[in-house]
Amino acid sequence: MGMIVPADITGHYDPAKNYKTVVVNITNHCNLNCRHCFLYRDGNANEATGSIREEMSDEILIETMVHLRDKHGIEAALWMGGEPMLKPKLLRRLVKLFGHSTITTNGTAPLIDFGPSVLYVISLDGPEELNDQIRGEGVFQRALKNLEQLPGNFSSDFQVQSVITRSNQDRIEELVESLVQTRVGWMTFSFIVPEAGDFDNPDVWTDNHERAAAVEKVMQLRKKYPGFIRNTQRHLELMLPPYDKRVTRYCPPSDNILSLYLDGNRFDVPGCCYGNDVDCDRCGGWVVFHRAAMLEASGRISWEQG
Ligand SMILES: C[S@@+](CC[C@H](N)C(=O)[O-])C[C@H]1O[C@@H](n2cnc3c(N)ncnc32)[C@H](O)[C@@H]1O
Ligand code: SF4
Ligand code: SF4
Repeated sequence: MGMIVPADITGHYDPAKNYKTVVVNITNHCNLNCRHCFLYRDGNANEATGSIREEMSDEILIETMVHLRDKHGIEAALWMGGEPMLKPKLLRRLVKLFGHSTITTNGTAPLIDFGPSVLYVISLDGPEELNDQIRGEGVFQRALKNLEQLPGNFSSDFQVQSVITRSNQDRIEELVESLVQTRVGWMTFSFIVPEAGDFDNPDVWTDNHERAAAVEKVMQLRKKYPGFIRNTQRHLELMLPPYDKRVTRYCPPSDNILSLYLDGNRFDVPGCCYGNDVDCDRCGGWVVFHRAAMLEASGRISWEQG
């Protein structure tokens, strides 16, 4: 057998950079077709092969991760797609390569115990009715049932992440109430990242002034359900004017996150982890404001000055 060569990397890749985290779309296949999904927008590497088995081989994908980890000193990985749980055998091998892994999943497949180095992030976008309008009929119940059936000694952590949009913002407390009673330990809120030029869409806000009421709602909820909602107060404040654009112009995750979109037998690095054609000014991505608040807390930056 010949030597396995790591996949080529195209796009906004900087071979000289010290990336800390790698975010990898391990498949472009998905069993859902969510209304808000940025991955399947035009202009992104997202083409799904006829069969999932025709995608980049597990061996090449693993070799590429080992190569990038060692070259850049990458410490943590976030596995997503498409739906990463469609490739459980590959995931079992990938999570062994890094000290910490996150798997972002739609929760429709049973979770697998990959040990304490793995955190599952399960995506639910509102109470059942609204979630299923975005994610598909029956998806909410399938995800919750999979969580209920986890054995008591399941050792991977799991949390829920919810994307707030203009159309679900008034009902997010119902989601919180239904999850507080389950085995879900905590949740985080992200806010929709719109496509550039997308204003004619009930899911997106016109600007961040209009979004502010939704951000303030999460501020209230984190006080009402202490410990359960993990966005910090500062994370949420930074989403409000005038901080919002200071943060998004800098884009903290672009410093040290390498985002890899599967593109046939290569990986493409898009201009932004949310794809190529995004509206930065209205970005509400969790990782952006989370990193912004962390950078400030460590004293490396202040968002108080314009
Ligand atoms: C692209 S999905 C891939 C992983 C998996 N299929 C899932 O749904 O969790 C990763 C995360 O991005 C979120 N997401 C999708 N479209 C988004 C958008 N336009 N803005 C913000 N987050 C979005 C999803 O809700 C999910 O939590
Ligand atoms: S399940 Fe995830 S990848 Fe699939 S369409 Fe929904 S958000 Fe996109
Ligand atoms: S849209 Fe992308 S590039 Fe812009 S701030 Fe958000 S994550 Fe950064």
